[in-house]
Amino acid sequence: MGDAAGELLTGGLVAFPTETVYGLGADACNAASVARIYSVKGRPADHPLIVHVASMDGLGDWARDVPAYAIALARAHWPGPMTLVVHRSDLAGDFVTGGQDTVGVRVPNHPVALGLLEAFVRAGGKGVAAPSANRFGNVSPTTAQAVSDELSDYLGMSDVILDGGACAVGVESTIIDCTGDVPKILRPGAITEEMIEHSTGLDVLDSDGVSIRVSGSLESHYSPMAKVVLDQPPVAGQGFIALADLATGEGVVRLAAPKTNEEFARVLYSALRAADEQGLDTVVVAQPAGNGIAIAIRDRLARAAR
Ligand code: TXA
Ligand code: MG
Repeated sequence: MGDAAGELLTGGLVAFPTETVYGLGADACNAASVARIYSVKGRPADHPLIVHVASMDGLGDWARDVPAYAIALARAHWPGPMTLVVHRSDLAGDFVTGGQDTVGVRVPNHPVALGLLEAFVRAGGKGVAAPSANRFGNVSPTTAQAVSDELSDYLGMSDVILDGGACAVGVESTIIDCTGDVPKILRPGAITEEMIEHSTGLDVLDSDGVSIRVSGSLESHYSPMAKVVLDQPPVAGQGFIALADLATGEGVVRLAAPKTNEEFARVLYSALRAADEQGLDTVVVAQPAGNGIAIAIRDRLARAAR
């Protein structure tokens, strides 16, 4: 892991696994490296990046005026699939925050990510800015192969892709705005409204399961090349993603049949990628009902279908 940490410190990019999706990392203090993330992704420069840190101590480096409920969230759910948006410290440059006064911070829960971040901190680093390791608007990668398929044409010779297997959660972290009196969910994920209320004792704002707009999330996003259609009966030649208890009709290409909502989240992005690999025009998804991670799945599918 020392090599990859050294690569970051000398200005290179390192794609690394997390429990949610793979990230494309750069030294969050190095404006030139962070600029390369935007060009490799083809992402507009006003979209803020999440700073990944090795432990809760990192929050103190990057944030100021952190409310008590945010500390409670960090204690309860880090390392884990949760990003806290907090007022930024002077360390967080405009090139990371997209010029906003806030910064997103997360401690990921994956041995390879934590090993990388710990080695980076030991070598003098402060944090690793990392968006999902896909081209802008595309489906996030949940395997090292998917990262390579997305980005190998754009990465340089010395950039690194670390392989940590398939991501266990499969959808991006819950993003929680911690700049107000109470937490507000900006992007649903595996850390649910119930969990946030339980660990803070506060009512969460605006998290009625309707997709909430994070800056830059208005366009279609998380989209494969295939057209994504929701909750319609699939016909022959179309791809189909649904819970296992829904049968596959004659000639329909079944891309995934997860048994639980957690498994649905885990396999969703690789199933959407498989639709493109098989050259399908349309993929029909029967959305899972209910709360918990199903809210995050429906949020991503609504954007993929836009
Ligand atoms: O699970 C994840 O969060 C993954 C892994 C790699 O950690 N990362 C990820 O990053 O999904 P990205 O850049 O693809 O999505 C981050 C989202 C963007 O929609 C961005 O606008 C939002 O987080 N964001 C970041 N900083 C923010 C801030 N200060 N205020 C509001 N939104 C912010
Ligand atoms: Mg992304």
